[in-house]
Order: sequence, then structure tokens, then C-alpha cells
Amino acid sequence: MNIFEALRENHDLQRDLAAQILNTSGASDQRNNLFENYKSVLTAHATAEERHFYIPIMDSDSGVEAARHAIAEHHEIDELIEELEETDPSSPAWLAVAKKLTEKVEHHLDEEEQIFFQMAGKILNEKQKTALVEPYLDDYHRGLEA
Ligand SMILES: [Fe+2]
Ligand SMILES: [Fe+2]
Repeated sequence: MNIFEALRENHDLQRDLAAQILNTSGASDQRNNLFENYKSVLTAHATAEERHFYIPIMDSDSGVEAARHAIAEHHEIDELIEELEETDPSSPAWLAVAKKLTEKVEHHLDEEEQIFFQMAGKILNEKQKTALVEPYLDDYHRGLEA
């Protein structure tokens, strides 16, 4: 497995959880549990990805701008998570905010997979592409438990 496959696997989990969240209605345990799970996955993934993917890319001058842009998007996602936490799950506004969040995440995942990964493929050497998997996964799992 290389780092791109590891990240993509998590992106697919994020997409799956997003679809399930948008299918919930009204305040329910299911809505709460899915949102809690989605939130942990997003947060743990973003931190592990910044440490073990963006930082090595930022070692290269050609990777700085794209990594900054991606980190700024992580921040925008954090803010939408906060907005959703502050929204009453029993109000119709909840689903509207959830939609805004999941659309932002989907845009970010597509951009990473379609643009960022191509660029990173040129910056990282073959050894790095596989060596980054373990620290990324360790950090991700630690983040999930936090
Ligand atoms: Fe990602
Ligand atoms: Fe990301």
C-alpha cells in the first residue's frame, strides 16, 4: 500500500458517512452517532494527513502553495463542523448546514485526489510513498481514540 491508497481509502469512508448523514431526519441517536463518527474521522484524518503528507510535500518549493491551500480548506471544514455542532439537530437548518459541510469536504477530497496527488506523485520518491503509510495510519488511529 502507498500513501495515496491509504488516504483514498479514508476519503471513501468520509464519503460513505456523509451520504448516511444526509439520509437522517430529525434529532435521533443515529444522526448523533453518525455525526460524532464523521467528526472524529475528519479530524483524525486531517491531522495525520497534515503531518505525514503535507509536511513532506512542503519540503519541496513546488509543493508549498498547494499544501497551504489544502490546510486552509481543513480549517474551513473545522469551522463548518463547529457551525453544525451549534445547530439544533431537531431543526430543519441542521440538514442544510450538514449539506454545506459535506459539500465542502467532497470538494476538498476531489481536489486532493485529482490535483494534489498528481503533484505529490512527482515530489515524493517511491520510498517515501510507502514509508509514509505507517506513521500516517498510526497517527490517524491515535487521533480517533483521542
Ligand atoms: Fe485527505
Ligand atoms: Fe485533506
